Amino acid sequence: MNIAVTGCHGQLGNEMQKIAAANALHQWFFSDIDSLDITDPIAVERYFSEHRIDCCINCAAYTAVDRAEDDVEMAEKVNVHASKVLAETCHSQNALLIHVSTDYVFDGKGTQPYRETDPTGPTSVYGKTKLAGEQAIKDSGCHYCIVRTAWLYSATGKNFVKTMLSLAETHDEINVVCDQHGSPTFAGDLAQGIMALVSHYGKRPVKEVFHFTNDGITSWDVFAKAIFELGGKSCKVNSITTDQYPTRATRPAYSALDTTKIKETLGIRIPFWKDSLERCIKELNSQP
Ligand SMILES: NC(=O)c1ccc[n+]([C@@H]2O[C@H](COP(=O)([O-])OP(=O)(O)OC[C@H]3O[C@@H](n4cnc5c(N)ncnc54)[C@H](OP(=O)(O)O)[C@@H]3O)[C@@H](O)[C@H]2O)c1
Repeated sequence: MNIAVTGCHGQLGNEMQKIAAANALHQWFFSDIDSLDITDPIAVERYFSEHRIDCCINCAAYTAVDRAEDDVEMAEKVNVHASKVLAETCHSQNALLIHVSTDYVFDGKGTQPYRETDPTGPTSVYGKTKLAGEQAIKDSGCHYCIVRTAWLYSATGKNFVKTMLSLAETHDEINVVCDQHGSPTFAGDLAQGIMALVSHYGKRPVKEVFHFTNDGITSWDVFAKAIFELGGKSCKVNSITTDQYPTRATRPAYSALDTTKIKETLGIRIPFWKDSLERCIKELNSQP
């Protein structure tokens, strides 16, 4: 298949590039905003027909959760409008769209891992635009897999793991919230899951939503402690509540996702979050 990966310089996009380097079964076409602005319908249409795209893996998004509260127009442009552009292009060119969404589509009042069919209720601009992007894809008539993930990190880009490791260089202790629960996800594992979806569905018709996170549920303070432990840092973590750490966007208090559907559909196992964190930290430590 001819596979387009958009947003290829982001965390997930980078991991897709690594997978592609070891996968000669497909022809890969990587782009980011410098080479293909996915908000531009004419450019997207031209790109897809030029490269005869059979499948698009959309790793591009507006991901600055707090900034989105004051930058609604741009968040909508990338998370809603561009999702519609990609979906309509996939529909007209008979291509499969694999699109990535977020646990922030839920309101966080749950107490059990959210299933794909559970009611949504985003509390932030980011979550609302990601949900509207999902809807635009469903409305387009294209074939799609929407993959919701959470707490994404990797050895590249900006993320919680790298922020904590860098803060540990200058701080003896740090305050981290203890009352938001979810599942960290190593972008390398998500990329493997997406590749398994591509192999499973290929050119077959599909219209499904899936949840994919690493196994296990934790809180940000426990996550931070694990980062310091595995990263060999002596920084102390003080557990604080969300009230003590106000942020521009409201985040769900509980956003664990039930991953049974993707595991059973693809027959895959997903690593435990701490094992994947260890792999990521090893990768960071081996960087020059
Ligand atoms: N990060 C998380 O914690 C998290 C959690 C749950 C779900 N997700 C979802 O997972 C997916 C991947 O996230 P990520 O963390 O890998 O994102 P990321 O690192 O922020 O990468 C997103 C990429 O998209 C590019 N982009 C932005 N606007 C674009 C446009 N108009 N055209 C083409 N490319 C554009 C960005 O370029 P610039 O950098 O130049 O803007 C960036 O390279 C996203 O759908 C996100 O919503 C992420």
